[in-house]
Amino acid sequence: MYNSKIIGLGKYLPENIVTNDDLSRMMDTSDEWIQERTGIKERRWIKEGTDDSSAVMGAKAAEIAIERSGLTKDDIDFIVFATLSPDMYFPGCGVQIQDMLDMRTVGALDVRNQCSGFVYGISVADQFIKTGMYKNILVIGAEFHSGGLEKSTRGRGVTVIFGDGAGAAVLTREEDKTKGILSTHLHSEGKHAKELVVEGPSIMHWVPEILEANDPDDVSYYPYMNGTFVFKHAVVRFSEAIMEGLKTNNLNKEDIDMLIPHQANLRISQFIQKKFGLSDDQVFNNIQRYGNTTAASIPIALTEAWEQGKIKEGDKVVLVAFGSGFTWGSVIINW
Ligand code: ACO
Repeated sequence: MYNSKIIGLGKYLPENIVTNDDLSRMMDTSDEWIQERTGIKERRWIKEGTDDSSAVMGAKAAEIAIERSGLTKDDIDFIVFATLSPDMYFPGCGVQIQDMLDMRTVGALDVRNQCSGFVYGISVADQFIKTGMYKNILVIGAEFHSGGLEKSTRGRGVTVIFGDGAGAAVLTREEDKTKGILSTHLHSEGKHAKELVVEGPSIMHWVPEILEANDPDDVSYYPYMNGTFVFKHAVVRFSEAIMEGLKTNNLNKEDIDMLIPHQANLRISQFIQKKFGLSDDQVFNNIQRYGNTTAASIPIALTEAWEQGKIKEGDKVVLVAFGSGFTWGSVIINW
């Protein structure tokens, strides 16, 4: 058995910046409301007419991560792609990456775990590396939310929160069992599936049915979120997942050098920061600039924290996520 470790990180954000004031011209909202409730100042939304998509952005982030890892695309043994906004209903984005990056015919797995997608993806990669089945794995989180959001006052409770972007990590084998990824923990509670959901198009709610009905009140193909309910569960599950990871590794909250929470809402991150007694330097947030990019939020934040020199060898780094499903989980790393 081996450990795995992250040796390359990359990110890609579309150029088009959408400010809160831009949104207030599309719907009844305000910069003050959005900043006060979420901390978000602006987000990136793919501009119509550009080629960007979840797979394209994921490929761009992956190329950077692979280059920084010192490996080449031919060294990658497996692809894991986490997204809730795939380019196509099927096949998934993983196979598009294999093609776009002109990789060997390695396996490609899509992970559909929304905001927890990257944490699930890292855990899957870690297991394959641990057993020795694969040596080098590319894990991508990417989201093209803006194409599926309802940009009107009816959708404002969801639309103002989400942004587009991608992040990627290259994991490799680590022979020292005290280094790299020390543990991953994954959870789900499907009874809350409809508290944060897009119901259609799906096999249960198929496109012709939606089109034939032509019902302006049918919002099932837009995201629905019971925000307050999600918020309340998020703060509890974030805390539990962090504690579970620390306990498994005989660590205390004082041992955390850097916490990278899924960028759901700045208020959630601040609540967790306070609860664990962490300083501003020990929690990395960039939701202010990118909004909530779901499966991409942790790899984008991790990449930026690393680029800014905020993660050093030997640091205990904690990744934690919660989202639709509900799903949640944590990763504890000895960097
Ligand atoms: N601008 C102005 N007013 C708004 C907006 C908006 N964009 N959105 C909602 N409102 C209004 C509502 O209509 C409501 O008005 P009312 O009181 O007259 O009915 C009022 O503001 C309060 O609405 P709430 O939904 O109660 O606002 P809340 O303080 O709960 O904040 C928010 C909403 C920001 C969505 C918050 O609940 C939240 O962040 N929840 C968690 C989000 C999250 O973590 N998601 C998980 C990850 S996402 C994933 O997995 C895909």
